Amino acid sequence: MKDKLIIFDTTLRDGEQSPGASMTADEKVRIARALERMKVDVIEAGFPAASEGDFLAVQSVAEAVKGSTVCGLSRALDRDIDRAGEALKLAERSRIHTFIATSPIHMEMKLRMSPDQVVEYAVRAVKRARQFTDDVEFSAEDAGRSDEDFLCRILEAVIDAGATTLNIPDTVGYSIPAQFGSTIGNLIQRIPNSDKAIFSVHCHNDLGLAVANSLSAVMQGARQVECTINGLGERAGNASLEEVVMAIKTRQDAFSCTTGLDTREILTCSKLVSSITGFPVQPNKAIVGANAFAHESGIHQDGVLKNRETYEIMRAEDVGWSANRMVLGKHSGRSAFKSRMTELGFEFNSESELNDAFFRFKQLADKKHEIFDEDLQALITEVNTDTEEEHFKLIALKVCSETGEKPEAVVTVKVGTQEFTGTAEGSGVVDASLKAIESVTKVAANLELYSVNNINSGTDAQGDVTVRLEKAGRVVNGLGADTDIVIASAKAYLNALNKLEDKGVKKHPQV
Ligand code: KIV
Ligand code: ZN
Repeated sequence: MKDKLIIFDTTLRDGEQSPGASMTADEKVRIARALERMKVDVIEAGFPAASEGDFLAVQSVAEAVKGSTVCGLSRALDRDIDRAGEALKLAERSRIHTFIATSPIHMEMKLRMSPDQVVEYAVRAVKRARQFTDDVEFSAEDAGRSDEDFLCRILEAVIDAGATTLNIPDTVGYSIPAQFGSTIGNLIQRIPNSDKAIFSVHCHNDLGLAVANSLSAVMQGARQVECTINGLGERAGNASLEEVVMAIKTRQDAFSCTTGLDTREILTCSKLVSSITGFPVQPNKAIVGANAFAHESGIHQDGVLKNRETYEIMRAEDVGWSANRMVLGKHSGRSAFKSRMTELGFEFNSESELNDAFFRFKQLADKKHEIFDEDLQALITEVNTDTEEEHFKLIALKVCSETGEKPEAVVTVKVGTQEFTGTAEGSGVVDASLKAIESVTKVAANLELYSVNNINSGTDAQGDVTVRLEKAGRVVNGLGADTDIVIASAKAYLNALNKLEDKGVKKHPQV
């Protein structure tokens, strides 16, 4: 019998710390449901003490998810732990994840605490968290640069205080595989009560080694890996869930553990996270990139046709590629539409919400006759963002593009309750449209990123546009999808402007 490797997904917490990737409670619930369908063991839903919005998001995930443990992050502070405990009250299975930094530089320069004080805070935090749940995780932040003797001391103390999972984060992505693996092996060997807890790792990708470090730790006895869909996360991101899970599955000869994940759900999760956060997946990304299973060279194609194992180490369908099938079309009825949306994790709150979404679906099916799951995901995003509460709303857009002439756009936008029309020229129709919108909304944000992705192939495919805006240090991503990329761009731009309007301030856990 092989050991179980616990997969702890932190897309909704560390992933959300990527600039512009913040998610609403509804979006978090949609991703959490997809992770639950994939049988992820633990879902870290957020940092409840960060803001009222984060608290509500964790609470919503805790209420919605039944098959996975729902976890909330907290610093080693009473008020953070109490907030996390409160947010997780409705969860069927809950975990509180508390952390404090243990490296000399963090203790001295950031916390301004002595090592003794850090141990005291850690022990107190774990004991307090145990008052809410029996499932308590402790993280030694910046463990990758911490002294091994000190790690042994603090980890032994928190196990005695009731911690059931000990997480060893490489917070700044400094570690290298052989050394990180041997640290994990040493800790397990040296800590006298180590058999009373699961050892976990949480690796950042600053040197591109997050997955390699995580796997090296697993080889030395770690039995939980913290990771994110598409490797999303602070700075260069976290270890990518799909890469860790598929490495373990594909190389069972090298690992003495297995995960319980349904890997066929990987691609759906990847596309969902990409569409909600607006972080596109690069085509050559392992497992989930568009080229991950594409064979370009003639020799490779020939080999695969003769025997796929000549060049393929995994089956594309095992990570969900063949699930990317046409599911609905122009003639599909309301019940087929509703049932597929439910399978994708979307629940309609009322008949009128269903009618509205079905109407949008029919409009889309008139424009493109094959509707894929990705189109439905984009439609859900649109239903969720196109609400009455939005400050800016697109009413009409007309563009003019002619050889030898300057492209021009005329746009009508509803601002609050009033409609305004603006006109602008630009270097192209998209540029002209965004300038026309700015002439009306006057937000004066900086455009940091503009990207277009085809949701699926074909010239009638929907364009999925991401617009990243920055204003006064705040970064937001706006999303828009349409078969017309100019309209998709305008929707994405307005979506980002609406997010900037929402002034909710959020604390960063590590500050
Ligand atoms: O990278 C890190 O150290 C973290 C902790 C909060 C676990 O994200
Ligand atoms: Zn992290």
